[in-house]
Amino acid sequence: MAPSLIKLLCAALFASSLLLQGSGARCGLSTIRVNQQTTGERSGLDYEFRVDVTNACSFACFHSNVRLHAPAGFMSQKPVNPKRFRPDGAGTFLINDGNPIPAGTAVNFTYWWDHATYFFPAGSQASAC
Ligand SMILES: *[C@@H]1O[C@H](CO)[C@@H](O)[C@H](O)[C@H]1NC(C)=O
Repeated sequence: MAPSLIKLLCAALFASSLLLQGSGARCGLSTIRVNQQTTGERSGLDYEFRVDVTNACSFACFHSNVRLHAPAGFMSQKPVNPKRFRPDGAGTFLINDGNPIPAGTAVNFTYWWDHATYFFPAGSQASAC
């Protein structure tokens, strides 16, 4: 290959990597962690579960419009704070009212059911970082 073509290819690769970083690609969906545990509270047959949704990205990106999927469905015996977790009408659940979650921080919500609900991250918009 001609040296000028190699230079051109390198420049194109470099530019596309900058674009990817600019669009928040350094903080992909895999950097959203969902953990939950029982709080120790019970009501009849149901346990209170607290779910922590963490922006675990090691770069200083914000995750906004974070959505979770509950493939086996979701129910709660008591209401869940809708500013923390609510159905978005598209089959997933919106976290934190869509507001940004800074890197290294978590948003939590609690629900009441007789067993834990399986959640996984279904979407987010990461800021540039
Ligand atoms: C849950 O979130 C609230 C509001 O941000 C915070 O004050 C509280 O400490 C969190 N609870 C836990 C156990 O992390």
